[in-house]
Amino acid sequence: MKSISVLAAIAAITCLSACGGESPAAANHGDDPLPNGMTVKQQIEARQKNLKDLGAAMKTVGDQMKSGAPSLDEIRPAVQTMKTHAAEIGNWFPAGTGPESGIKTEALSKIWEDQAGFQAAAQKLGEEANKLSDVVTGDDLAAIGAQVGVTGGACKNCHDNFRQKKE
Ligand code: HEC
Repeated sequence: MKSISVLAAIAAITCLSACGGESPAAANHGDDPLPNGMTVKQQIEARQKNLKDLGAAMKTVGDQMKSGAPSLDEIRPAVQTMKTHAAEIGNWFPAGTGPESGIKTEALSKIWEDQAGFQAAAQKLGEEANKLSDVVTGDDLAAIGAQVGVTGGACKNCHDNFRQKKE
């Protein structure tokens, strides 16, 4: 009897340190399968890679606009990358891929608590990236610059609400 209650006490203590929601040693769900066939870890890493690509493309466009002599040959392919990713971003955050996964992520739980708000923010980026893609078919640099700014605002809008702030 005594040994059983000791085991139960150990189990309770282990759970206090490993099962507590706020514990940094949260259970690792990285290998859990998602409905799309990827594991949680694969999904998180894939979206982070895509977001890095999106960030790099945005930087290329921004750097060109600031350069004093923007090259449309540099800007146009980067905008295509942005448009492709922007159309998909709403699909990169399936349930289970938040901070509770135990995988390093800057995605806030609010994404799943306010799916409508998150999907609206994703949709907004899609619309603005499409407009940017249209405007770069021409060579009106003032119009392109303005739409780059609006598109950047759509990134910021989502980050402000759904991405962990930098310390
Ligand atoms: C609908 C919401 C949303 C929109 C719109 C959005 N992002 Fe993000 N972004 C996120 C979230 C959430 C993360 C954190 C993802 C993670 O860590 O798993 C993130 C992370 C990133 C990262 C870091 C990736 C890494 O892991 O190193 C970059 C770079 C980035 N976003 C760039 C952009 C740019 C540029 C735009 C606009 C063109 C944009 N994002 C638009 C939600 C969004």
